Amino acid sequence: MNILIINGPNLNMLGFRNPEVYGSETLNELMIWLEKSPEAINHKFKFYQSNHEGAIIDTLHDEREWCNAVIINPGAFAHYSYAIRDAIDSINRPTIEVHLSDIHNREPFRKTLVLSDVCIKTISGKGKNGYLEALKDFNILL
Ligand code: DQA
Repeated sequence: MNILIINGPNLNMLGFRNPEVYGSETLNELMIWLEKSPEAINHKFKFYQSNHEGAIIDTLHDEREWCNAVIINPGAFAHYSYAIRDAIDSINRPTIEVHLSDIHNREPFRKTLVLSDVCIKTISGKGKNGYLEALKDFNILL
């Protein structure tokens, strides 16, 4: 299976940014850990990070033929980007939304999720294991 992994705004700052919330590992360390997990065997990955809404949308469009599934941590776009929501909806690929932190027990604005209705699942509060859970779900589903 070809899996597209998208990380949105500020996730390039992992390791430095609020480590008490997001942990001390960098995004690179996290993605290498995921790619080396036993669950990743037999899959090909493309990893993409951007701080820009349009760039994330372009990536979803450009990779739609390559990918069989998408794992996305949209960062704060999760709370207001109808444009990314529509892009996910338009590519017709099963998508799982992942958040490292427990968005339901933080600031109230993080409870609004505008992508989740076009994602097959939203995982939050499990740290890097959220990405692994998404991979395990795809191993069962696809
Ligand atoms: C996040 C949660 C978002 O609310 C926040 O804006 C992020 C990271 C997470 O992984 O917990 O940038 O998506």
